[in-house]
Amino acid sequence: MTTRILTGITTTGTPHLGNYAGAIRPAILASRDAAADSFYFLADYHALIKCDDPLRIQRSRLEIAATWLACGLDAERVTFYRQSDVPEIPELTWLLTCVTAKGLLNRAHAYKASVDKNVENGEDPDAGVTMGLYSYPVLMAADILMFNAHKVPVGRDQIQHVEMARDIAQRFNHLFGNGREFFTLPEAVIEESVATLPGLDGRKMSKSYDNTIPLFGSAKELKAAIARIVTDSRLPGEPKDPDNSHLFTLYQAFATAQQQADFRQELLDGLAWGDAKQRLFELLDNELGDARELYHQLITKPAELEDILQAGAAKARRIATPFLGELREAVGLRNFSSEVKSAAPTKKKSSKTARFASFREADGAFRFRFFAADGEELLLSRPLSNPKAIGSLTQRLIAGGPDALELREDEGDQFTLWLDDECIADSPRFESADALDAAMLRVREALATLVE
Ligand code: TRP
Repeated sequence: MTTRILTGITTTGTPHLGNYAGAIRPAILASRDAAADSFYFLADYHALIKCDDPLRIQRSRLEIAATWLACGLDAERVTFYRQSDVPEIPELTWLLTCVTAKGLLNRAHAYKASVDKNVENGEDPDAGVTMGLYSYPVLMAADILMFNAHKVPVGRDQIQHVEMARDIAQRFNHLFGNGREFFTLPEAVIEESVATLPGLDGRKMSKSYDNTIPLFGSAKELKAAIARIVTDSRLPGEPKDPDNSHLFTLYQAFATAQQQADFRQELLDGLAWGDAKQRLFELLDNELGDARELYHQLITKPAELEDILQAGAAKARRIATPFLGELREAVGLRNFSSEVKSAAPTKKKSSKTARFASFREADGAFRFRFFAADGEELLLSRPLSNPKAIGSLTQRLIAGGPDALELREDEGDQFTLWLDDECIADSPRFESADALDAAMLRVREALATLVE
């Protein structure tokens, strides 16, 4: 069985080397596994929560799409799309919102952090908190549950969101599944082996520390960034300590075992920091050179990227559209005309089918009439002692069906209905033998419509 792996990339900012080593490279490697059915998407609705600058949103979506493809993501093999191109996702978000406890979202780290900060600053607890931020985990749950992902590779800060998706899925399954598990319960996957790269200053590489190395800057920009890596003040010729050098850590993340051993020895032997930086530059330039070229080609042909993403969205929607249809059905958002189909027989019986009607005569006797669907009176019964007798007679007639109906022609202008050798009903009188034959046929047809 294949494992469905799904992850979203929030489209704010430009990918840097840390994103590449920590997320992009491992995800692309994982997508090449024969047992993996991978879904990667640009979480551009999530980006809107953090950013209200349309140009930045647009730019970042383009850059991130180009980055993933340039790094070797095979859009034929995986399903690669923009969240905002799959309208089933926001629609599912609403269905899930309606089963999500507010208390669950109150506990979300991102929301709580904002509230704590406000309280600390003596502000209103919800100052600056949008419903987008508050409901963020529900949108993320929809991303995951829409495609019934088994595994969701994420950073540690996102584990709670995947757990919330499980909670929400269970709640929906319980309420609407009727024994069916609509949603697979997803699991967060944290890649322990994946490198968290240090930035230029040795802290974790992150845009918020302004210590990043651009992934697809020019060779000159790459060189300039590497030149800013902070080192100790040991002079050329003095032995360097590789294990206390983040320059060495960066090198390690991209080098083969042999290259690592060689570089380590050179540092121990007193390689100058300037030369060490040159080594790192060459390594990175070598690793990223081809992808960088491809990236710049892609970025200058946005129409091609658009086509790739549209094809990805179509592929995703081939799953999402029918699945959402089932979910709408499950919660009761159903097509009226399919409802008419199931309601129709009852409705017909009450107005437009043949029927037996019983009544009581002035002398206290009970009789029934049998009417055709168009209202024509076909038979009038002989008097019966009680309405129960009428009920059991008509039930026996219906149960026997049209073929068991015993009709006898009488004196040429009338016919009678017999049961257990007793005459129980008479027809009206007819002008001709043909009219009488036709009426007998209509009695059988009318009865046939009452047989289930
Ligand atoms: N919230 C995730 C992040 O910031 C991005 C994301 C959105 C995501 N939807 C997702 C990740 C679904 C995994 C699955 O990293």
